[in-house]
Amino acid sequence: MAATASSTAGAPIMTKAAVAFEPKAPLEICDVEVAAPKAGEVRVKVMYTGVCHTDAYTLGGLDSEGLFPCVLGHEGGCVVESVGEGVTSVAVGDHVIPLYIPECRDCKFCSSGKTNLCSKIRATQGSGVMPDGTSRLTAVKADGSRVPLYHFMGVSSFCGYAVMPEISVAKVSASAPLDKVCLLGCGITTGYGAVKNTAKVEAGSNVAVFGCGAVGLAAIMAAKEVGAAKIIAVDINPGKEAVCREFGATDFVNPKALPEGKTAGSTIIEMTDGGADYTFECVGHPALMREALECCHKGWGVSTIIGVAAAGQEISTRPFQLVTGREWKGSAFGGVKGRTQLPGMVEDYMAGRIKVDEFVTGKFPLSGINDAFTEMHEGRAIRSVVALHE
Ligand SMILES: NC(=O)c1ccc[n+]([C@@H]2O[C@H](COP(=O)([O-])OP(=O)(O)OC[C@H]3O[C@@H](n4cnc5c(N)ncnc54)[C@H](O)[C@@H]3O)[C@@H](O)[C@H]2O)c1
Ligand SMILES: [Zn+2]
Ligand SMILES: [Zn+2]
Repeated sequence: MAATASSTAGAPIMTKAAVAFEPKAPLEICDVEVAAPKAGEVRVKVMYTGVCHTDAYTLGGLDSEGLFPCVLGHEGGCVVESVGEGVTSVAVGDHVIPLYIPECRDCKFCSSGKTNLCSKIRATQGSGVMPDGTSRLTAVKADGSRVPLYHFMGVSSFCGYAVMPEISVAKVSASAPLDKVCLLGCGITTGYGAVKNTAKVEAGSNVAVFGCGAVGLAAIMAAKEVGAAKIIAVDINPGKEAVCREFGATDFVNPKALPEGKTAGSTIIEMTDGGADYTFECVGHPALMREALECCHKGWGVSTIIGVAAAGQEISTRPFQLVTGREWKGSAFGGVKGRTQLPGMVEDYMAGRIKVDEFVTGKFPLSGINDAFTEMHEGRAIRSVVALHE
């Protein structure tokens, strides 16, 4: 079907966004002008967005590279509104999931076949601007004053419309519900992919997952899918036990409820006759990263870091831990190449092979987005989804 031009194409669009004017302050709902896409860019209508811990981390001022004022959000479920000159891979009306790790299929990283860390727009994305060095987002205040805003992770989905390069969107099935598959834009894909692409967990392995938010639960889901023997969920929130078991955990360890002298690590070593084959850190605490490595089995245990630690923090262990055959890995967006692999994940969801609906614990209007952050901080949410146009 030929794409039809939208009536809004080529001109700025006024919409509402949740703007982070400074770290450690609530988001403010503002009028924001979203400029038309330039060559190679697309403008999307953001229907829904998830709220990820990484948004809270940046808003909390823990990211030294966090730029303000900005529009946060990076788990979007979107429809293409218009495209800039030269865009060929998506058209008006396509359903897309924005990618905070693009896939240009051309740079050294994409060509290597070894990583999903496309570097094509890394510098400008990290500086909060489009590849031409400028922003497409401007807050328009009640008094008419205009405040340019930074983009965040190349996505900025806490806004009714967003602009990104063509290489930063994955076209997905138009029949997939965007209020669910938005979560494939980060949390679910990250934990799921870390198990399947990064660690490559085999059937029969013993697995331990530290931190059971959306990322950790997705890791548990993937471990179950590949046929792991023991799946030990570790979380300081006892309220997570039931959901962890629902997703496939065979055991639950609450480090705060252990007898004196025991740690989650020592408990896992006892439960697995010497250590887990695979562990995953899904919290972002260097001490926990160490514990996750050191409770891996001697000779072959692999520990994958997924959690994002605060700026400036470092990991440590005794080198002997690695000399004796443990391996330390890291995973970004689950090693998934977004344009190539996300459409298939959406199909897997539509066919009932992976859970997505079960991750959504709350739905909020844009005006309630700060409540969605509170739900996360208080440990009640797996994922809250915010509706931008309802
Ligand atoms: N590498 C990536 O590509 C990537 C992508 C998305 C998220 N992340 C990071 O992954 C981490 C998890 O994200 P999320 O959205 O699932 O977060 P979340 O806040 O939903 O979940 C974190 C979980 O960890 C638990 N927890 C906290 N402290 C703990 C401790 N000391 N021991 C055990 N459990 C503990 C919490 O109770 C909670 O259940 C964050 O650091 C986030 O920034 C990384
Ligand atoms: Zn690339
Ligand atoms: Zn995220």
